[in-house]
Amino acid sequence: MLVFKHKADLKRHLLNKREEGNRIGLVPTMGALHEGHLSLVINSASENDLTVVSIFVNPTQFDRKEDLENYPSTLERDLELLEGTGRNIAVFTPSVQEMYSENIQAESFDFDGLEHQMEGKFRAGHFDGVGTIVKSLLQLVEADNAYFGEKDFQQLQIIKKLVEKEGIPTQVIGCPILRESNGLAMSSRNERLSPEMRKEAAFIYQTISKAKTLFQTKSPEEITKWTENQFDNHHSLTLEYVEIANESTLEPVKSFNKKDRYRLFIAVFANSIRLIDNIALN
Ligand code: PAJ
Repeated sequence: MLVFKHKADLKRHLLNKREEGNRIGLVPTMGALHEGHLSLVINSASENDLTVVSIFVNPTQFDRKEDLENYPSTLERDLELLEGTGRNIAVFTPSVQEMYSENIQAESFDFDGLEHQMEGKFRAGHFDGVGTIVKSLLQLVEADNAYFGEKDFQQLQIIKKLVEKEGIPTQVIGCPILRESNGLAMSSRNERLSPEMRKEAAFIYQTISKAKTLFQTKSPEEITKWTENQFDNHHSLTLEYVEIANESTLEPVKSFNKKDRYRLFIAVFANSIRLIDNIALN
């Protein structure tokens, strides 16, 4: 497994690989890898000859300084986990300077309104930061396919929009959410939860799974109200938002129709740690 720190070296390596006829997959991450990340790598490795995994904690997508400073970093372990998959992987671990030079700033994007919903309302500038780094990685790697988790469903839709609008010839592929045995969606941020909190946080998935069962009989408003009530009675977790949205526009819905697909989205604070999750309703 080769590890690259510099864009030019990775580019040269990929040029050779492409000339040899290899298909290339890209899996962008911020490290502190877990099974969820590895599932993207396995998906990519099954559909491509070489998978590039980037590990880069992107400063421009953090709206809270505290969150950036406390973001876990476990590079040595990450490399072991990737090596352990036994797949054909090239790892890219650039420095902030390598990605941004002296100008650590996000570009401004128009994602046709997708960026103003949910996470966009609560995390100012977040999707400009994500768009900036993902665009730069896609342009660098020129992958055939790039893999993103449905765990960050809004991000996945925004990246599909980015590729479409910028005319980037990479296919964006969404992959299902991997969960811990108690249902908690796997996340690098789970590492920062105390063992008790990690158990408590299973309540998030339990609740949204029950909310899903209301889909046939209740309106979107009744389902979100019901979910809010569950969290009102739960003291160690604080609900930030719960929203039911159309999967493709991400706009909140007032009623359901037969032809559209809907998802429930949720963000919850467990102490100061922010956790997100979502579930398909139909
Ligand atoms: P990060 O949070 O490290 O996630 C990297 C990828 O792993 C994302 O596509 C995310 O959706 C996916 N992922 C995380 N947890 C998952 C889970 N439990 N099941 C399935 N997939 C999961 O998302 C980012 O990094 C960044 O915003 C990035 C796209 C790398 C840009 O900086």
